[in-house]
Amino acid sequence: MKIMLVGDVVGRTGRKAFDRYTKELRQKYNVDMVIVNGENSAGGKGISRKSMDELLRGGADVITSGNHIWDNREVYGFIDQEPYLVRPANYPQGAPGKGWCIYPFRSANVAVINLSGRAFMPDMDCPFQKIEDILSEIGNEADIFVLDFHAETTSEKMAMGFYLDGRVQAVVGTHTHIQTSDARILPKGTGYITDLGMVGPWHSVLGVEPEIIIKKFTTCMPARFNVAEGPAVYSAVVMDIDTATKKTVNIERIFITE
Ligand SMILES: [Fe+2]
Ligand SMILES: [Fe+2]
Repeated sequence: MKIMLVGDVVGRTGRKAFDRYTKELRQKYNVDMVIVNGENSAGGKGISRKSMDELLRGGADVITSGNHIWDNREVYGFIDQEPYLVRPANYPQGAPGKGWCIYPFRSANVAVINLSGRAFMPDMDCPFQKIEDILSEIGNEADIFVLDFHAETTSEKMAMGFYLDGRVQAVVGTHTHIQTSDARILPKGTGYITDLGMVGPWHSVLGVEPEIIIKKFTTCMPARFNVAEGPAVYSAVVMDIDTATKKTVNIERIFITE
């Protein structure tokens, strides 16, 4: 089966670009399932009912997230009801929402797991211990396992990729909003990329108007972040997973700039 994994969608510019390209790419690559990170889909901060519905209408099957998931308070009202919206599983117990879900696709159940890194990130439970708990909890309930590892450093993400190589079918990094060029199949058959990148304004600093971030760096003063407008970037990968051997046989990087 073919799964397309799409990077963090940022604001309206990102949502429009997601809508513009996802259906086209689904057809072009014969994609069976789309997983997208929606943590910045509402005005760059968090996810709202409206931004989530736009992603679902635009072709998303499962929405993952990260440290920005709580930024729009609307999410508290629906995160527990949405079957295909996940947040990092290694929040301590008591946080709303869930860290993984199972998406049924024809004869295969696809487990989509979301975890946060700990290097330069909020304090979280250990993602390496947490994934062990999750894998044994899911057990035979799923046939294919996909992880969105939302983390800052390349090293933590690569370590997770090798840690899970051969035990899950896909490990993709998110959070930095910059796509890395290292899409690969790890030695034991796990498809991997350090960061998917983002879907959002191309002439921006990680989605935000450059002037604001330049001012922040040059004055060290706090500033209100506005999502930039204009042409977009669309960043994703398509993985081809052999459901019989449980190995990823191909990974293709998608990077569209307008
Ligand atoms: Fe993000
Ligand atoms: Fe993030």
